Amino acid sequence: MKKAIIVYESLYGNTKRVAQAIKDGMEKVGNVECSIKKTSEIHTNDLLRYDAILFGGPNHNQEPARNILRFIDRATIVDLNGKIGAAFDTYTGGNIGIAVAKLETIIREKLSGMELVANGFSALVEDRRGPLANEEIPRATEFGALVGRKLLI
Ligand SMILES: Cc1cc2nc3c(=O)[nH]c(=O)nc-3n(C[C@H](O)[C@H](O)[C@H](O)COP(=O)(O)O)c2cc1C
Repeated sequence: MKKAIIVYESLYGNTKRVAQAIKDGMEKVGNVECSIKKTSEIHTNDLLRYDAILFGGPNHNQEPARNILRFIDRATIVDLNGKIGAAFDTYTGGNIGIAVAKLETIIREKLSGMELVANGFSALVEDRRGPLANEEIPRATEFGALVGRKLLI
């Protein structure tokens, strides 16, 4: 059994819903067990227990939410060599992919032992507080399945 964790930040719950859909997709491929933790709920040392680590957060002013960036800063002292990863964001309006691209750049710079195995996923919320746009939950599940399959290779 491979173990994965999704570390996320979420102000209004939309990114948390995306994390849950990604978890469902990962577990659907079989032989993957996925946990979900908000940044405040997990110590960086606990990352050592997992084969795959996913990071996600909302776009706040064209950047990944501050708490997810702080978590990655704290994780730099942990040896994540050989682990696989992926990233996702949620956004409003025309800002698809902007925060997740920055998140991926930061992961590559700061957690360089990790390999990102899928292009970052970006989910639209219709207004600042939500709800998630139609189709984003099945898209998130599909993204999870993609990462899950990479984990089993
Ligand atoms: C302070 C703040 C700044 C935001 N700035 C942007 C932005 O620049 N671009 C964007 O697409 N969405 C922006 N948003 C919308 C968030 O992306 C949206 O609230 C978020 O995806 C909802 O996810 P959550 O429910 O997990 O917090 C902003 C939201 C907040 C609260």
